[in-house]
Formats: sequence, C-alpha cells, structure tokens
Amino acid sequence: MPIDAPKGRSVVNIGDLRRRAYRRLPAPAYHYLDGGADDERTLARNMAAFEDVRLLPRILRPIASVDTATTLFGKTVAAPLMLSPTGLTRLFHRAAEPAVARAAAAAGLPYSLSTMGTTSMETIAAIGDNPKIFQLYIFRDRGLTEDLLTRAKASGFDAICLTVDTAIAGNRERDHRTGMTIPPKFGARSFFQFAARPRWSLPTAWDQLRGRGFRLPNVEGRVDALKNEALSLIGYVNSQFDPDLTWDDFAWLREHWTGTLIIKGLLAPDDCIRAVEMGADAIMISNHGGRQLDDVPAPVEMLPKIRDAIGGQAELIVDGGIRRGSDIFKALALGADACSVGRPYLYGLAADGERGVAKALHILTSEFARTMALAGARTVSGIDGGYLVGMDKR
Ligand SMILES: Cc1cc2nc3c(=O)[nH]c(=O)nc-3n(C[C@H](O)[C@H](O)[C@H](O)COP(=O)(O)O)c2cc1C
Repeated sequence: MPIDAPKGRSVVNIGDLRRRAYRRLPAPAYHYLDGGADDERTLARNMAAFEDVRLLPRILRPIASVDTATTLFGKTVAAPLMLSPTGLTRLFHRAAEPAVARAAAAAGLPYSLSTMGTTSMETIAAIGDNPKIFQLYIFRDRGLTEDLLTRAKASGFDAICLTVDTAIAGNRERDHRTGMTIPPKFGARSFFQFAARPRWSLPTAWDQLRGRGFRLPNVEGRVDALKNEALSLIGYVNSQFDPDLTWDDFAWLREHWTGTLIIKGLLAPDDCIRAVEMGADAIMISNHGGRQLDDVPAPVEMLPKIRDAIGGQAELIVDGGIRRGSDIFKALALGADACSVGRPYLYGLAADGERGVAKALHILTSEFARTMALAGARTVSGIDGGYLVGMDKR
C-alpha cells in the first residue's frame, strides 16, 4: 500500500479484518490465530510466494457474465474456495463455529470442522446444505477415532479430511510468550491481557461463569487431559495425538470411511502419488499455515510439481497464504482445483462474528470474480497457464 493511501475505518480487504481482529482479541487469542512456528519464515513465505506469480491478461474476451462456480467433491460450489479446519474457534468469538458454518453455507462454500472444534459435529452438520468436511486427528485412543468416524457418517458429513502434519506440535513461540492455554485461563498472569480487551473478555467470562464456556465437544469425556486444569497447547497436542501414524493408518482409514477422503498437510510430490495410489480423493497441499515445521516451501510453490506427479487422479487444494482473490486465480492457473483459507475467515469472525466471516468470504470471492474478468477468463474451467507469465504452467 502506498504511504499516502487513505486510511479509514471501513473494511475493504482481508488486511483490514486482520487489524480489527487485533483490536478486538486479547493477546493470547490474537497471537494463537495470527502466529506461526519458530521464525515464522514459512508463514511469511506462504503469502510472499503468490507475489512471484504474475498474471497475463487476455484481451477482448467476453466477460460480461463471469461464472465463479465449480464442482468440488462432486458438488457444485459457488467458487473454488473452502474454509479450512481451525480448532478452538470459540476463542475468537463466542458465536464460534456455527457462525462460520452459517456464513459458509450462505456463500455456497464448503466448510471444514476441526476435531478440535468448540462445537459438536452434529450441530454443524445441521447447518445449511453446502459440503461439510470433518477434519480428523488420529488420537492415541483408537476407539475415539472410530467413534468420530461413526458420528461423522451418522450426522451426514460429506467428507473426512485427515491432517497428517501434526504428529507433534509446532513451536509457536508467540504462544509461549503470551501463556496461551486451552481452555483459556483467566489468572493473574493473563489478567491484564484480558482486561485490555473487555469487549471479548466480559462476555467470555460471563459464559464461563454460567457453565457455557469453552468446550471441545467432539472429544470431551474421552480425553483425560481436558478434565484436568488448563494445559499449554503444545502439551495438549503432544499428550493426545498419535506421533506414530504411518501409511498403514491411512489404509485403515480408507477402509473405514467409504465417502470422500481428503488428506491434508502434504508437500512432497512422492507422498501425493502414494496418497492417490492408496485411495485419496483430494489432497490439501499445506504446511498448516506455517504453524508446524518452519522453512518448508509454500504450498503454491509445490503445486505445479504435484499436479505433474498425480495428473488428474485427485482434486488438489492449495491451503495457506491466500489473502486475495487473485491468489485463488493464480493457484488455479498453476493447476489447483480450489484453494482453502484459515486465518482470513477467522480474522473476520474475530472482527465481527458471523457478519465478519461473511465479509471475508465476500471479499475473497468478489476479488476472484474481478480477477477473472480483468484477466479475461469467463469460467473457472477456462483458467489455465495461459494466464501466467514466466512460470511452470499447467
Ligand atoms: C487458529 C488456527 C487453528 C488451526 N487449527 C487446525 C486444526 O484444528 N486442524 C487442521 O487440520 N488445521 C488447523 N489449522 C490450519 C488450517 O487448517 C490451515 O491449514 C491454515 O490456516 C491455512 O493457512 P492460512 O491461515 O494462511 O489460510 C489451524 C490454523 C489456525 C490459524
């Protein structure tokens, strides 16, 4: 943005929602949302990688009726954009996952609920008729994993997404510094952080007092750690998730889940080939938004090689760093079927609840439509490497 760009209160892009989220959230919640692992080089790279992709507009093509709709997981969606699973959503606004799911349904976009969500999968499944994905973490307790699959099927989820990049927790140094715990602990150490954001803290404290506070209903009762006092996030992940997951577990899951199976957190083309051979229907190329291993490539950097490796055998979703509709266009031109976002909709949620999520989705989809029009692409299926300059093309 130029130095003399006008400043104002209106929200015109995802960056504006991020600033609002910063002003609304207490430090532990904001930095848990916004931060990444170690030096956050991958977090920055996820976004910067899109800057290196340059568009080549094609002229005098009819674009009066740009159509952003496409199909994903066999269903029609309004745009090639998904909402990635994000745990602990209630931390960012008491309206939590239902607000996000309603906004996604209204926008006609797929929503993913995290195993670590603060709303039950049954509640989310009942909202709207957009595609719903349940993101699965495999726990040390395999009985819990089987229960989650049974519940996902019974409540009507369209797909399971297995996240495979979280065997142990990444080193989120911002969380160490703010003392972030789950559930959030109102104590002497955090008092001033919470007191500085009364619009978040007062309703949250009130909910806690009435016993309507922070819960993880998809796993509670089964996960001992949650019965005890607040744990650091890293302590929690390390104590519950199974660090010994292998391809055999993926084969087990493929056998037990007959619906659409997505695998999330792959970057290596060889791993993608193996996942497809073992029956993955879709791959989310992802580094967990730069929150796990630092200094790995951005998903969009790996995309052309992965598309070459697997051809058209599975849908490819680029997850991480998307902050503009033009980023979605670039990913599609490089061979993706869709993109997925985490922080952008969470910034919206923190800024203004359901309306803020709707705003974030509107910003991204309208920017995408405008990019299509200005680049000269009328349909999603028409977006290809011909719209790029100087890159590996589709
Ligand atoms: C606050 C937060 C919580 C997350 N929780 C989960 C989770 O529970 N499961 C998961 O697979 N990914 C989780 N992720 C990663 C997202 O699904 C996604 O990969 C990432 O946010 C994409 O990067 P972006 O934020 O730049 O869009 C989380 C991300 C954030 C920001």
